Amino acid sequence: MTAVHFPPSTAFHYRNGILHCDDVPLTDLADEGGPTWVYSARVVDQAYAAVDQAMSFAPHLIAYAVKANGNLAILARLAKAGAGADIVSEGELRRALRAGVPADRIVWSGVGKRDRELRVAAGAGLRAIHIECIEELDLLERFGSPDAPVRVALRINPDVDSGSHPYLSTGLHSTKFGLEVAVARSLLPRLVQSRTLRLEGVACHVGSQLDSPVPLREATRLLALFARECLDAGAPLRSIDPGGGWPMSYGAEETPFPPHQAFGAAIAAGIADAGMSDAGLEVVTEPGRALVGDAGILLVRVLAEKHQGGRRFVIVDGAMTELVRPALYGAHHAVMPVREHLGEWSAADVVGPVCESGDFLARGRPLPAVKRGDLLAIRGAGAYGREMSSTYNGRPAAREILVDGKKTRMVRRRGTISSLWALEEP
Ligand SMILES: Cc1ncc(COP(=O)(O)O)c(C=O)c1O
Repeated sequence: MTAVHFPPSTAFHYRNGILHCDDVPLTDLADEGGPTWVYSARVVDQAYAAVDQAMSFAPHLIAYAVKANGNLAILARLAKAGAGADIVSEGELRRALRAGVPADRIVWSGVGKRDRELRVAAGAGLRAIHIECIEELDLLERFGSPDAPVRVALRINPDVDSGSHPYLSTGLHSTKFGLEVAVARSLLPRLVQSRTLRLEGVACHVGSQLDSPVPLREATRLLALFARECLDAGAPLRSIDPGGGWPMSYGAEETPFPPHQAFGAAIAAGIADAGMSDAGLEVVTEPGRALVGDAGILLVRVLAEKHQGGRRFVIVDGAMTELVRPALYGAHHAVMPVREHLGEWSAADVVGPVCESGDFLARGRPLPAVKRGDLLAIRGAGAYGREMSSTYNGRPAAREILVDGKKTRMVRRRGTISSLWALEEP
């Protein structure tokens, strides 16, 4: 097997035989303490600008899905560019506010919210709290006041198949998300009459990593039809939010995705299909991975190589504790050697030190000869990487470095060993 030519990444490329993040060689960013996340600030900026451009057909808000990567430096950068935030917990709310996202640009979308969370959200002046069950409507009605009505949106479940991995599909009736349109419709009279709530929006989310804009167009059409019903019922509707789903490249030999422009166009077309283009609604979108995924890699170090049961195992210091996506979804992340290698390659499983057979970062993937100490970059790790990590097997959190042109900044220190039991009592 000869050397693999990886599809180009916007941030990571070989220069003088060394993989760089923008102008910085990754060999300068590794240490002996364990794996390191590396993010390109430039690529985050570029991705935001591309989505912004794709949404230019209407007044819009890009509510970045904090769950993809809530690092404060990244959030602050996006907030400065004009982004809002899509959050799912009080933790994410406080994080977004701490990073400088104005409350007026924050939407709270989530399938289960505790009493305390609803009370905090109601008092925070958010752009919208997405109602996903009757219990939330009951509580929010109590937490609002006629002087300061709580701004809410109804999140519907449009029963549209996103075509993505079942764990990433959220817009079918067989999933727990949103309200069936008939149920949402039945709440309209109560919402319109409420003195403590203002129904300002409608929302949905069909799923993540869409490989076609068609489901987004259909979901937006159904959502816009429901928006018409809300307006007809007398709701002071301001916005329509068809969720996220903008895809990203994981550096695999995957079929290229339609460009961002196609997803913006799909939202515009869905609104037009429903005859709602002139309704004057602001359009909210909730991209997560598309803004940060390709901007990040997980930098890991080879610990050993062994051949066993007819397979080649490359054991590295990163694991499912850092990047769980391969174990959880069978997700594909390209693995690139940090030192460019033009000789022979052969298939290998890239596995971590965690005591689970499911602990792998890649399976049957071409890799050159490696030895202990060599560095590998796991691509497309800027989204749902650090956020989904754990300290299983007593592994402190990896550090995070933000590259900005030639400059680098540690934006999160490595977890310490004592932090593993800091909240425990012996
Ligand atoms: C409601 C909602 N909005 C937005 C997103 C972001 O998805 P993505 O990162 O694929 O853009 C998610 C992902 O789970 C979501 O549940």
